[in-house]
Amino acid sequence: MIQNLQGGNMDFSIEWENIYKKNQHLSIWPWSDLVSYVSRYVNSKSSRLKVLELGCGAGANIPYFLSLKSEYTSVEGSESIVNLLHEKFPQYQESIHVGDFTNFEFKKNYYDLVIDRGSLTCNTTSAIQRCLNNVYEAMKPGSQFIGIDWFSTKHSDFDKGSVVEDDIFTKMNIESGHLSNLGKIHFSDKQHLLDLFSKFDIQVLEHKTTKNELSNSYTIASWNLVAKKM
Ligand SMILES: C[S@@+](CC[C@H](N)C(=O)[O-])C[C@H]1O[C@@H](n2cnc3c(N)ncnc32)[C@H](O)[C@@H]1O
Repeated sequence: MIQNLQGGNMDFSIEWENIYKKNQHLSIWPWSDLVSYVSRYVNSKSSRLKVLELGCGAGANIPYFLSLKSEYTSVEGSESIVNLLHEKFPQYQESIHVGDFTNFEFKKNYYDLVIDRGSLTCNTTSAIQRCLNNVYEAMKPGSQFIGIDWFSTKHSDFDKGSVVEDDIFTKMNIESGHLSNLGKIHFSDKQHLLDLFSKFDIQVLEHKTTKNELSNSYTIASWNLVAKKM
């Protein structure tokens, strides 16, 4: 187990450290839904936006926040990918941290925007809920949380793998398909998201499906959401 910055054990799946060491999942272009949601729902022009990204991975979304001249912070579990990012973006040596974002001491009442693109979904329900409670405290009143690509129970991989710790929404050991060999995968239905974000005012909740119409072999289904701290 890797230690987090507070000295506790990490909830983070070690699979991601191994994935990056094998040079896989090195996405470097900002995710289009993330760019669309921030452009559409966030007033990024009024002040220098303080942004927290949960799990920045290989830093795909960083150039976008650089272009907005925002103050960017991230907590990411993979030490090797964070070392690479510190080399690539030396200005973020102090603000991209190695740690478990489900167990991290964030600055309180500080952020204007928290984003999560495919990172909380690598965790169990209890870890996600703990993280959302902490993140809520870290957000300024009126600030927004944008969640992109939260896997849906309508995803064709939901029926695969084994349940983690009696948590019916979290699977592991998915051996084939879009989500294979990625460690823990969390899936949500609408009620589960309403429960997880019950403290927030959910402003947008959209469900997306992409179905392979040629071979009918997969359906990728996910949620995007915008939730405001009241
Ligand atoms: C699918 S990648 C997404 C990366 C990035 N957000 C993007 O959009 O390209 C998920 C990332 O979340 C990180 N992660 C998952 N659970 C974590 C946790 N509990 N603490 C810190 N990082 C975590 C993984 O290491 C991985 O880099």
